[in-house]
Amino acid sequence: MTLATSQDFGGDAEAVVDVDIDADFARSVIAGLSVPQKQLEPKWLYDALGAKLFEAICEVDTYYPTRMEMQVLANRADEIAASLGDNLILVEPGSGEGVKVRLLLDALGERVAVYVPVDIAADQLIFLGQTISAAYPEILVAPVVADFTGAFTMPSDLPDGPRVLFFPGSTVGNFDPQTAQELLARLRVESRAEALLIGVDSCKDANRLVAAYDDPVGVTAAFDKNILNRINRELGGTFDLSAFHHEARVVPEKSRVEMHLVSDREQTVEVAGVPFAFAKGETIHTESSHKYAPEEFRALAAGAGWRGEAVWSDTDGLFSLHLLRAD
Ligand code: AVJ
Repeated sequence: MTLATSQDFGGDAEAVVDVDIDADFARSVIAGLSVPQKQLEPKWLYDALGAKLFEAICEVDTYYPTRMEMQVLANRADEIAASLGDNLILVEPGSGEGVKVRLLLDALGERVAVYVPVDIAADQLIFLGQTISAAYPEILVAPVVADFTGAFTMPSDLPDGPRVLFFPGSTVGNFDPQTAQELLARLRVESRAEALLIGVDSCKDANRLVAAYDDPVGVTAAFDKNILNRINRELGGTFDLSAFHHEARVVPEKSRVEMHLVSDREQTVEVAGVPFAFAKGETIHTESSHKYAPEEFRALAAGAGWRGEAVWSDTDGLFSLHLLRAD
């Protein structure tokens, strides 16, 4: 983590910039490719193109989480608004495209005083800050360019008011349960939030998961493979994208679906001058997406100092939205 600086993003507050992406990316990739089960941290999927491809995934018919969560948010907006209070400071780690927060902001109306989106995808974040500022002129927007998987700096001089963490999309599912619990505890302390509104994907049958994570249109495959493209471009990698294919693996005993990039042949690839050998069929594990029954997630969150207050699901029980309070 670097020393936080600030940048004028054309909105009403300065953006806090608290990340040195290039150095972190190189270190993380070299380390991840050096272990027996090669792996890449999913946060690196979101360069400019990756962020766009993820937006496209959300439009794919078989990718149910986004639509289900939007449905729950839309149906329960008034109830949610009533339980959160006024003069709110809304903090959103991994804000991405910011579609969901708009639903929430519309429901919360004048209750929100400040919106703090936090994201590693700097360009997308700055754009989001500008659009939210323009669409909700009475809300102070204070973006933070940071990797929320580590400590990050909150904007200084925030007004008083109840702080609410908004963590939709089942982003929490990208961490293994232990790390997820530590993350939820750290976010509580760092943001000083008193409430957490979080989206969590439920356990479901393998067929539905494979259709969602290896969609028939091939958007998820493109999203996954783009990480190799990014390594080639930013780290002088020599990946031949046509020699790898995307695979979604359901691992029921870990209650998760994994994304892998499978090497179609024996090959050696260089990254920043370092050679990495691949056997035919060897994989790079690029993401895990953990699924929780609502009561399992409540227990996990309780261990991070969050007390379950309400949980709402879509009619098919595919996805749930939890409201929790800091103990
Ligand atoms: C970023 C957590 C919403 O795990 O479902 C979508 C990312 N990966 N398709 C998920 C993702 C493959 C996604 N989230």
